[in-house]
Amino acid sequence: MSQTLRLLIVEDMPDDAELMVMRLEDEGFNLDWQRVQTEEDFLRVLEEKPDFILADWALPQFSGLRALELLNERGLDIPLILVSGSIGEEAAIDALHRGASDYILKDRSKRLGQAVHRILESRRYQQEKEQAEFELKRRLAELEVLYNISSSLRYLESLDDMLKSLLQQTISALYTDTGAIWLASRDKKELEMLSAEGWFTSLDGLVLKEGEGLVGDTYLQDQPIVSPEFIRDPKLSNKVAGKVPSGWGGTLIPIHSHEEKIGVLAVAVPLPRELVAGELQLLSYIAEMAGIAVHRLRLFDQLQTATEALASAYDETIKGWATALELRDQETEGHSERVTEITLEMARKMGLTEEQLDNVYRGSLLHDIGKMGVSDSILLKPGPLNDREWEIMRQHPQHAYDLLAPIDYLKPALSIPYCHHEKYNGSGYPRGLKGEEIPLEARIFAVVDVYDALTSDRPYRLAWSKEDALEYIKKESGIHFDPQVVELFLQMIKDLR
Ligand code: C2E
Ligand code: SIN
Ligand code: SIN
Ligand code: FE
Ligand code: FE
Repeated sequence: MSQTLRLLIVEDMPDDAELMVMRLEDEGFNLDWQRVQTEEDFLRVLEEKPDFILADWALPQFSGLRALELLNERGLDIPLILVSGSIGEEAAIDALHRGASDYILKDRSKRLGQAVHRILESRRYQQEKEQAEFELKRRLAELEVLYNISSSLRYLESLDDMLKSLLQQTISALYTDTGAIWLASRDKKELEMLSAEGWFTSLDGLVLKEGEGLVGDTYLQDQPIVSPEFIRDPKLSNKVAGKVPSGWGGTLIPIHSHEEKIGVLAVAVPLPRELVAGELQLLSYIAEMAGIAVHRLRLFDQLQTATEALASAYDETIKGWATALELRDQETEGHSERVTEITLEMARKMGLTEEQLDNVYRGSLLHDIGKMGVSDSILLKPGPLNDREWEIMRQHPQHAYDLLAPIDYLKPALSIPYCHHEKYNGSGYPRGLKGEEIPLEARIFAVVDVYDALTSDRPYRLAWSKEDALEYIKKESGIHFDPQVVELFLQMIKDLR
């Protein structure tokens, strides 16, 4: 209790003031006090912002209520206790309504010390509560900013878009419009400005070496830099002379990804504004998030590149298989590629998605892969097949299924290899599917495959003429083939001629 309480006493009777001081000192208060008895003196001492006021109810030229009124007019939040020889209950309650902290009767002045303690205690508590609420609000606002930034970054898939969005949200959260992001090159020796807002855009394409300028220094030291005014900063790069306006300062903060520094985030504010501690804290969170977002995007890019490489390696393999199959089947060279091309074009016209088309492509190239399970003596037999041979031949779609289904990458491409010998009227194999039970891509493929088979030499017969083959396709519409597919096929063949 050794802290001094700066007390202002409004009282015309010196003895009464002394008594109050004594009471408080008895309670252990360490006082620095002044007594006033006029409005003029009261206002003068008020300038010194006392901690506490004791005011007599009535003075010859002043009053406790008037003192209270003056405090209220000035918006001053200084506790005031009214002291009176005789105060009626109603007057006392009225005074409390006007903002007095308490009232005390002079003949009960023993109560004073306790009252002051209680008031100071409750004010301290109130201030702590307000401070805590303020802090909580600040943190909530900060969280909201971070949440908004992080959720918007999640959906952006290009580095440029991501950096732009991050920068724009960062500067707007800090109530400015100027900032930039630099990222390090692969060899980590240079920093390139990849996104800029405000006057930073005039530094477009600026590349700084590690250690060069404010940006390079932030990166090299791996420490945030606060620069009160950039153009007065000896560390400013001379490469930017004339481009950085006077009257701007700000902060530069390193961006990390997995402990490793990868760039610098800069935010600028016009003087006399300075970024305060809470804002710098927010910026450090944002920089952390930027690091994670960049890392995620780079991983995503790598993954995409790797997936594309893998997919094209697979597709090369598939083409190889298809060629091997053709060689064995003694099919006209390019049968697989030819039927694949026409099937794809028809599938696109019939509204299949790009992803489905990828699978149509693979399935079509591999349509007869199941014939690997059929021996040469049957496959290459120059004449018609007997019942036992047919039974084996008709298993080739099932072989294809058994072969491809365990391969995740090819499972979605199974429709054609598994279902290309189903017939529209349900008389096909292996499962006797009917109409739209047969996957659309298989219904398309069947028409193209039969046409190409008929117009090619086979070990068991010579090629048919195109006219005969087309006549056959028309005749089988609604029997072997889906009529809508036949219609589209005839249209396309006509256009080809
Ligand atoms: P593939 O030679 O690729 O023939 C595919 C489909 O085209 C056949 O399926 C059939 O629907 C149609 N197609 C091919 N040639 C003719 C034909 O001369 N007349 C008619 N009407 N349609 C024809 P399918 O019939 O289920 O045959 C599946 C596979 O069985 C054929 O594939 C081929 O490898 C083999 N195959 C079919 N018939 C014979 C045959 O008489 N002798 C031999 N060695 N193999 C045959
Ligand atoms: C520099 O790094 O020296 C130039 C960029 C800036 O103005 O902060
Ligand atoms: C498949 O897509 O898995 C094969 C065809 C079918 O069962 O419908
Ligand atoms: Fe087949
Ligand atoms: Fe075929």
